[in-house]
Amino acid sequence: MCSGFRDIAAEKEQKGKAMAQRDGLQVTAKELPEIPLPSIKVRDPLTLVIFGATGDLSLRKLIPALFVMFRQGLMPDKFAVIGMGRRGYDDESYRAWMADTIREFSRVEADSNTVTDFCSHLHYHDGDITTEQTSIALRDRLRDMTLFPSNHLFYLSIKPEYFECVTEHLSNAGLIKGPYGDEWSRVVIEKPFGRDLKSGTELNRHVLAHMHESQVYRIDHYLGKETVQNILSFRLANAIFEPVFNNKFVDHVQITAAETVGMESGRGAYYDATGALRDMVQNHLLQLLCLVAMEPPADLTAEAIHNEKVKVLHSVTPFTPESAGNATVRAQYVEGNVNGETVPGYRSEDRVNPDSQTESFVAARLSVENWRWAGVPFYLRTGKRMAKRVTEIAVQFKVPPLQLFNTVECVGDVCDLTRSKPNILAFRIQPEEAISLSFSAKRPGLQVQVENVDMDFSYAETWHKDLPEAYERLLLDVMRGDSTLFTRSDEVESAWRIVDSILNGWVESSPPVCEYSAGSWGPKEADSLFKDCDASAWRRPA
Ligand code: BG6
Repeated sequence: MCSGFRDIAAEKEQKGKAMAQRDGLQVTAKELPEIPLPSIKVRDPLTLVIFGATGDLSLRKLIPALFVMFRQGLMPDKFAVIGMGRRGYDDESYRAWMADTIREFSRVEADSNTVTDFCSHLHYHDGDITTEQTSIALRDRLRDMTLFPSNHLFYLSIKPEYFECVTEHLSNAGLIKGPYGDEWSRVVIEKPFGRDLKSGTELNRHVLAHMHESQVYRIDHYLGKETVQNILSFRLANAIFEPVFNNKFVDHVQITAAETVGMESGRGAYYDATGALRDMVQNHLLQLLCLVAMEPPADLTAEAIHNEKVKVLHSVTPFTPESAGNATVRAQYVEGNVNGETVPGYRSEDRVNPDSQTESFVAARLSVENWRWAGVPFYLRTGKRMAKRVTEIAVQFKVPPLQLFNTVECVGDVCDLTRSKPNILAFRIQPEEAISLSFSAKRPGLQVQVENVDMDFSYAETWHKDLPEAYERLLLDVMRGDSTLFTRSDEVESAWRIVDSILNGWVESSPPVCEYSAGSWGPKEADSLFKDCDASAWRRPA
């Protein structure tokens, strides 16, 4: 072997053979599986208790995800799911409802035998989750260990104001076991985890008074998306990109999460009290920033990855009232056209205050002041009712130091001379998962001219495979006790520290709430964030 490369798979194989020989087993190379990957099926028998089992998330995502896992043979041999709610169902009527739900929302074939088989594991428990009696009644029900295996997974898909009382009641009822016993208890907590640094920290303190950090799984469903997981793999499994991921080569990074949806299904009330900054930036966008900016972890353990992410978040310069005024832009959509349909403005949406000042769009320029990224702006933007549904991270490299060639840019048949174009590496997270690298190439012909072209890798075209839903990945991980794709308490608090500095800056410097037409790429004021940069602007992903 001519480089310092270690063939870890081969080393493992050698080690496996040596151990088997030591244990007196006869092993020949042929008997070893070609790719000795461990099965990802959940081994521990378990009972999953869903708080908020009749809510949207449970119906559209959790139950269908569990069904897919069941169909793929990933669920443990013995498991039960208890749906907690206040709708007066019993096991039988709940199963019938969930069977319909699966038929409606499952991404895999829902044949009636498998659906019936899966639904036989479902149970319903009626009760007011805010009272201690409900947890006590649940505990009594869980005593029947022939039906309910005693590893307990509590999934809190409920209003955030109930997180504290439910964890406290579960703990008081003795349902949270210690972290080091043979049987386990884990608690999954949905977002939003707090409203600001103070409430996020208090919630952490409260939850951690009843259980160990290793038992808390704070969900950010973006981390379960296949392409989000690929960011680290792409960076660290390829030797050619990582050396240029730094301030010597990168001009800036743009992270966009644009949505075309507005305030459908009565979402206005939640959203108007929350806004784009808390709803999307504090969690999803800052997590994407971490993945693209973090240092390579020492290994792939949850601990090592969380440590590196926290370091990135600590390196982000908090905003001052002045920078919150000139390095962020907040806005609301006004009436416009989305996908050929006229839609109302934000303030006319159902359950939105007609005088609302809540932002449905936010853009910000962040500085990650560490050795690798000092001087490289990170631009984040997210909004509702934008031109396209697209989430992507674009790493824009510096232009070559000399413009040796005539660079041409063509729109249709009309071509103009232009300045050198930068290379851009774009991770497309949704809707079509892809990675593209744009670079300049000589145009065919007798003239020496270069033009920007793209090298595209598309998941769908390469692997022709349905990608797992984020919740399948995340549920599988929590059942297997892997918290890598969940957020740790200090990560959540560090993210709130950044968002808090913007929120406080907005209070002090009162920047205007700008307007953008529904169906556009956001307010024109957002372009001002690029004013000190050379030849840069927000991308309009095709
Ligand atoms: C949620 C936000 O966390 O993410 C929603 O609360 C948003 O407002 C959603 O629409 C976007 O998720 P996705 O997976 O559709 O990009």
